[in-house]
Amino acid sequence: MTEKAGSTAGPNNSTRYYLTTPIYYVNARPHLGHAYSTIVCDAIARRKRALGIDTWFLTGTDEHGQKIERSAELAGRTPAEFATAISGEFRGLWDRLGLTYDDFIRTTSERHRIGVQKLFATLRDRGFIYKGSYTGQYCVSDEAYVDGPPGTVCPDCGRVTETVSEENYFFKLSAFERKLLEFYEANPGFMGPESTRREVISFVRSGLKDLSVSRTSFSWGIPVPGDEKHVVYVWLDALANYITALGYGSDAPEDVAQFNKFWPADMHLIGKEISRFHCVYWPAFLMAAGLPTPRSVKANGWLLFDQGKMSKSKGNIVRADTVQAVLGADALRYFLLREIPFGQDGSFSFDALVQRYNGDLANGYGNLVSRVVNMVHKYFGGVVPGPADGGLEEIAVRTIAAFGPAFDELNFSEALKALWILVAETDGYLTANAPWKKPADRSDEDHVALQARVLSTAAEAIRVITALVYPILPDSAAKVWRQLGQGEIADAAKSGFLVHLAWGGLKAGTKLGEPAPLFPRAEKDAVERMQNMEEQNSKTVIEAASGQESVASSEAVASPSVATVAAENAAGQGASPANSAVTPSTTGPVDAEKPVSRAEVHAVPAELASSRLSSTPVAAPANAPLNPAGAAATEGPQHITIDDFVKVDLRVAQILVAERVPKADKLLRLEVDLGYEKRQILAGIAQFYEPEKLIGRKIVIVANLAPRKMRGLESNGMLLAASLPDGAPVLAGFLEEVPLGARLK
Ligand code: MSP
Repeated sequence: MTEKAGSTAGPNNSTRYYLTTPIYYVNARPHLGHAYSTIVCDAIARRKRALGIDTWFLTGTDEHGQKIERSAELAGRTPAEFATAISGEFRGLWDRLGLTYDDFIRTTSERHRIGVQKLFATLRDRGFIYKGSYTGQYCVSDEAYVDGPPGTVCPDCGRVTETVSEENYFFKLSAFERKLLEFYEANPGFMGPESTRREVISFVRSGLKDLSVSRTSFSWGIPVPGDEKHVVYVWLDALANYITALGYGSDAPEDVAQFNKFWPADMHLIGKEISRFHCVYWPAFLMAAGLPTPRSVKANGWLLFDQGKMSKSKGNIVRADTVQAVLGADALRYFLLREIPFGQDGSFSFDALVQRYNGDLANGYGNLVSRVVNMVHKYFGGVVPGPADGGLEEIAVRTIAAFGPAFDELNFSEALKALWILVAETDGYLTANAPWKKPADRSDEDHVALQARVLSTAAEAIRVITALVYPILPDSAAKVWRQLGQGEIADAAKSGFLVHLAWGGLKAGTKLGEPAPLFPRAEKDAVERMQNMEEQNSKTVIEAASGQESVASSEAVASPSVATVAAENAAGQGASPANSAVTPSTTGPVDAEKPVSRAEVHAVPAELASSRLSSTPVAAPANAPLNPAGAAATEGPQHITIDDFVKVDLRVAQILVAERVPKADKLLRLEVDLGYEKRQILAGIAQFYEPEKLIGRKIVIVANLAPRKMRGLESNGMLLAASLPDGAPVLAGFLEEVPLGARLK
């Protein structure tokens, strides 16, 4: 029997839900292991919202500590630059994957510093922090104290610990032994899965020692208030993100309201190896500060690949981008949630991924939708011919009843298994009734009646399947929803459409949308392509030799996004050039939680960066302060009036087709859908974007640009993109769902 990880259900059917991912260390670039927790949270957040629950989904990056300081040093960067660059990579990936986080916290931000210092001061004022001295073993990789003599190996990661000896502040963790055990007893649903619960309880029962919560041997951290030669212990700093992101530490009324609304968290989703920090230290800190404890902490298992836990130090990572490029983000989400029973370790393999994709998505759900939508078009002009009959009702109702509780218990795999039974039953129902085949002894009238009944019923089953699967396959569900003539699924989700999901919602007479491919069958070479992409990537990112978990290489730091964010940092701090030493005490917090923003937004015409830059404002080099006001001081601002601006018709469009233009290595030919019309646009982005990666992506175009011809092809419009200092474009897009054709004002 699989172990159950626990429930996501809020207390008393609460109408608000706060869930968090762990915040990711910025010493290494994101891989699938990191994407896993964030994708799980995204699926939960989407379902909660679709159930009408006011949901807040937080993620972010953990940027302080010796590990980051050392990684930065090895890469020849300041910790601030280094952290900003890698944090940007995490956020960029979450955005590319379409993850719907509501907030992204960086522990180097000002709001976080204020909150952590307030928490530290509160713990000290309430008598739970005192000064002492510590000599003992410390694991730099895990940022954790370890019991034992010099030379002791860290029980979590197996690396040799370092001996540290310093004056420290201590938290009276020992005072919480009994209180924590009572708390676990009174809240049996607090921790999951059961193995985590058992481990944590036995750890606490074995006795708790006071915990050192400050360090003096390095400076990359948040200064202890009133004693600035100490920085706050990285786990106290990191755990506090869950409250500082809600405004803890701020007196602004909106922050106070936000904190009161969402704290305590309903669920912290974490990896199993960090349960001690979340289930022991965190509730103890909160109890000591007089704050409510989170309602639950649920641990996912590890994603294994080749040699074990996927991690950069082992060199056995797979990037989410690779899977997304070849099979799409939905395929990745489906695989992770269907293949791995939540709470257990699960193996990732390209073969298994492609097998699931072809079996369940291409041949299963995708094929079912395409058969039914095409037949409704073929036989009934694309109009739902009648009401659904009872043929699939019972199984559909049973599926609705089974899916929700399984999902809410974090049994995603079971929930999907149950849903795919409905997919198979619907397929079987079609085959049994064969609406495409008219037996000789059936009258035309009877045959049309059968077709109407069977296709309406199958379409209704697809509607139910699609509504349920939306949190897991959001992009595909959005396409199917349109094909079913139901409009935008994101709008339906906003109005809580899952609350009233029941059989019979697809009305006779509904006009279906155009059939569109959902999951094109993965060809034989899909596995090889993904393997090659990973191989290529590992060749271009040279890991700095280090005994630590992993360190981004100096080559990585020279990548475009890093160059850009480094520039942003230098500008934001108004001081240091990109490669000068920056310490927290001299520069203050980075406070750059927004994604790369210094790069300018450009329209990308067919020509390449060089010609583009000559006709548009030139992006500053990576090490120059990029203060727009500074630029204005020397050149004087060139204003346009609002009348000038409204002449430019900026619209949201979706890329339907993207392909290279023969003999033009910089050009892509795009067909885009504006909702009200489709057009062809040529764009000079072929060196920066794989065409297949662009399909389905929503972009912004200048819609009223005079058409012009290039290479014999007409281009009707221009894409908008940010231009990075090295000329690479980054296409403009949206975090929220936006309808096609929407005008930007
Ligand atoms: N910064 C701390 C967490 C602080 S939370 C207040 C940290 N960071 S981490 O980057 O090392 O890990 C972040 C999360 O990613 C952890 O939950 C970890 O379990 C998860 N994963 C990293 N590699 C993983 C796999 N191979 N498989 C599954 N999850 C893994 O710990």
